[in-house]
Amino acid sequence: MSRTIRKAVFPVAGLGTRFLPATKASPKEMLPVVDKPLIQYAVEEAVNAGVEVMVFVTGRNKSSIANHFDTAYELETELESRDKTKLLDIVQGIVPSHVSCVYIRQNMPLGLGHAVLCAEPVVGDEPFAVVLADDLIDDDGRGCLSQMVRVYADTASSVLGTEVVDPAETGSYGIVDPEGDGRIVRVRGIVEKPAPADAPSNRAVVGRYILTSRIFHHLHKTGKGAGGEIQLTDAIAALMREEDVLAYAFKGQRYDCGSKLGYLQATVDYAIKHHHLGDEFTAWLKRRIGCQG
Ligand code: G1P
Repeated sequence: MSRTIRKAVFPVAGLGTRFLPATKASPKEMLPVVDKPLIQYAVEEAVNAGVEVMVFVTGRNKSSIANHFDTAYELETELESRDKTKLLDIVQGIVPSHVSCVYIRQNMPLGLGHAVLCAEPVVGDEPFAVVLADDLIDDDGRGCLSQMVRVYADTASSVLGTEVVDPAETGSYGIVDPEGDGRIVRVRGIVEKPAPADAPSNRAVVGRYILTSRIFHHLHKTGKGAGGEIQLTDAIAALMREEDVLAYAFKGQRYDCGSKLGYLQATVDYAIKHHHLGDEFTAWLKRRIGCQG
């Protein structure tokens, strides 16, 4: 069995209700953080981890995602004729030429587990990554998914990207029951969005997974769980009864861009670090909040 991860699944069919009305007609994954949409950060993270096939599980109103990763003939011709070579490079470099994009429609909003199952015909019988674009991870070049791919290469076990969260917030995440508190530990159990009193720990799964293809077997049998949806978490719980599943505490800073606060925090931090805007923005921000220096 191969230990390389060639394919990544991006479930992007969600309605993005937390950002309405901004997401009424355009996907939440296209919300920009400074100058790139969330989905592009996610795809770049996957490219850096060696992924070559991007599988987008899409829904209605998501055509702008496919357009974003496609050739924009008129725009490119226009930029070329105006000698805007830097912009042309940016537009043409969104997806490297060795990477292909595949789009699958999830025609029913049945949840994350169902979305991943929709990718089965493209993923087939090989390990793969799942990336949730609204968890934006700034890793100073270390690459959250790259870190997890290395763990998979060493262990051949499914790997869940995890982070310790405020115990009051367990109801927003899949929560693992870890064997100890090391960076890489085996998982004994996992529960979707437990109330704090029922949570086995406060180590939460964030939107990065590496899964063996055996997960599809369990997804086929997974009924509706928390929130009336087919939960990836429930299939992972079944998977870990027959294979090791690891929790990996990644190095990096995660922003929950599915929430307005997290999205604003990401915007400010990425603007501060931005190669062109950073200094000017930081100076403005300091004046704005009344800091000196
Ligand atoms: C999903 C998963 C959850 C995970 C979270 C990470 O929930 O179901 O287990 O912890 O992503 O962001 P959602 O945020 O889509 O409700």
